[in-house]
Amino acid sequence: MMPSPRDAAWSRLAALAQRPGAAAIGSLFSRDADRFEKFHWQACDILLDLSKTAIDDAAMQALQDVAKAMEVLPDRDAMAAGEQVNNTERRAVLHMALRAPATAGFQARRNDGGFEPVGEEVEQTLAAMEQFVRAVHAGDIRSSTGETFTDVINIGIGGSDLGPFMATRALWHEASPMRPLYLANADAHNWELIRPRLNPARTLVLIASKTFTTAETMANARVVRGWLEQTLGNDGMRQHLVALSTNHKATAEFGVPADRVFGFKDWVGGRFSLWSAIGLSIALGCGWDDFEQLLAGARAMDEHFLEAPAERNLPLLLALTTVWHVNGFGFDNHAILPYDHRLSRFPAHLQQLEMESLGKRTTRGGQPVPRLTGPVLFGEPGTNAQHSFMQLLHQGTTPVPADFVLIANPSHPYAANHRLLLANGLAQAEALLRGRSADEVRAEMTAAGTAPDEVERLLPHRVFPGDRPSTTLLLPRLDAHTLGQLVALYEHKVFCLGALWDIDAFDQWGVELGKQLSTSILPELMPEGRVGAHDSSTVGLIGLIRAWQGL
Ligand code: F6P
Repeated sequence: MMPSPRDAAWSRLAALAQRPGAAAIGSLFSRDADRFEKFHWQACDILLDLSKTAIDDAAMQALQDVAKAMEVLPDRDAMAAGEQVNNTERRAVLHMALRAPATAGFQARRNDGGFEPVGEEVEQTLAAMEQFVRAVHAGDIRSSTGETFTDVINIGIGGSDLGPFMATRALWHEASPMRPLYLANADAHNWELIRPRLNPARTLVLIASKTFTTAETMANARVVRGWLEQTLGNDGMRQHLVALSTNHKATAEFGVPADRVFGFKDWVGGRFSLWSAIGLSIALGCGWDDFEQLLAGARAMDEHFLEAPAERNLPLLLALTTVWHVNGFGFDNHAILPYDHRLSRFPAHLQQLEMESLGKRTTRGGQPVPRLTGPVLFGEPGTNAQHSFMQLLHQGTTPVPADFVLIANPSHPYAANHRLLLANGLAQAEALLRGRSADEVRAEMTAAGTAPDEVERLLPHRVFPGDRPSTTLLLPRLDAHTLGQLVALYEHKVFCLGALWDIDAFDQWGVELGKQLSTSILPELMPEGRVGAHDSSTVGLIGLIRAWQGL
């Protein structure tokens, strides 16, 4: 039987990855003096350098053939047309509409088969958010005690925390209008750390939850509501509450005044929601103009994604690089290394964006996926990462592809520090590529006067294999506009990978079981509770917890 065009494209890719020396990178540079020229691209303000990967012309062609066979770009067009590309939940996926003018004409396919335009509602919500943010900053909206709000706490988890937290960490500076704080963990030690820094009379409380049912968020919201009420009374407390949610019934039941609810629709996925009302803490903390620029930057990347041909489409190229590493070579880990401390929450945001989206084993048609899908993603800002896990990337047994995010110009005046930072980022990528041969180690140690037997003893430990792949993203500066571009680039990369692997990148059924089991364990931890039927490990642990709590 003839293989399908899809199978044939994947087989050609596998065959190329199995060529002897296919994972070598250094030799590609020695063979081609123009390698950097050929394998870097720029879109908006972002330069993407893929030259330090083992992709050569043949591999790139084979990867593009897979993209064509998997119909990535037609899928992209279906998403932009408002089709229900989140097919298991029967939902359109329209985060691009959140950063587009209404005139862009985005519409969402409804379950009855018709379409609903979405732009006007997006603009209305943005206008209401802007009015609110500017009034809070101007002191026109005040606290129940008549004071200006100085602090804003966002209570939310997952996509209702990670994106806004990441963006605020990146954009906030000492002249920003309010102090933003984030409370996510159900562990009240998180609240205990934050509480002493807050004055209830000057704190605005945002409860960010798409569903308004997430157990951790609602538990924290009740604690913080009680804290407000203690000092401000019931009426006062209500003047400090804001809800960011699609569930208006639940926000009303919780006591949030209707004019303090900022909504969005189910076609905004949690991990893609920082551009929606969920981003209110960014606007309050960093200023409306920054929030607007963030949206504009993302919009610029959307336009590139929608219009650029496959051969120079940055999100697609980034996704294809992951396919080459994961499916070509079985490298199923991926490091994110932003060399900018303001991006210290960027790896955490991408962890949810990529792993909740791509951690799937079933195709959109319900069959087992015949290949590896989403890699494990982790990261830390450089240079900190160099002093924690980079050893493994240089000398561990399996290569871990890494994305280096470098920013040419800092926003601080300490030029020497910035040079040190950039030199380290560039050097790490170069060291991963080059490695260090036995001859080099021997020559260096001998020149340093090391005795020959000591040289031979240490030689195997000091050799680096090299040929370890990395991708570099270079930005001229980090500001709201370029941050918007960067985040949207990764969002679209995730979309492309979903299409390449034929999985639904927009659902997250895998998080359900743990949530369900926790509700059945909860009563077993109550003083009057009894240990139920579980595996012997869970029974043993619950029993011991109860004993150690004196129950
Ligand atoms: O962890 C599952 C999840 O549903 C995420 O997808 C989401 O971002 C998070 O929980 C929070 O959900 P919500 O905004 O509804 O509280």
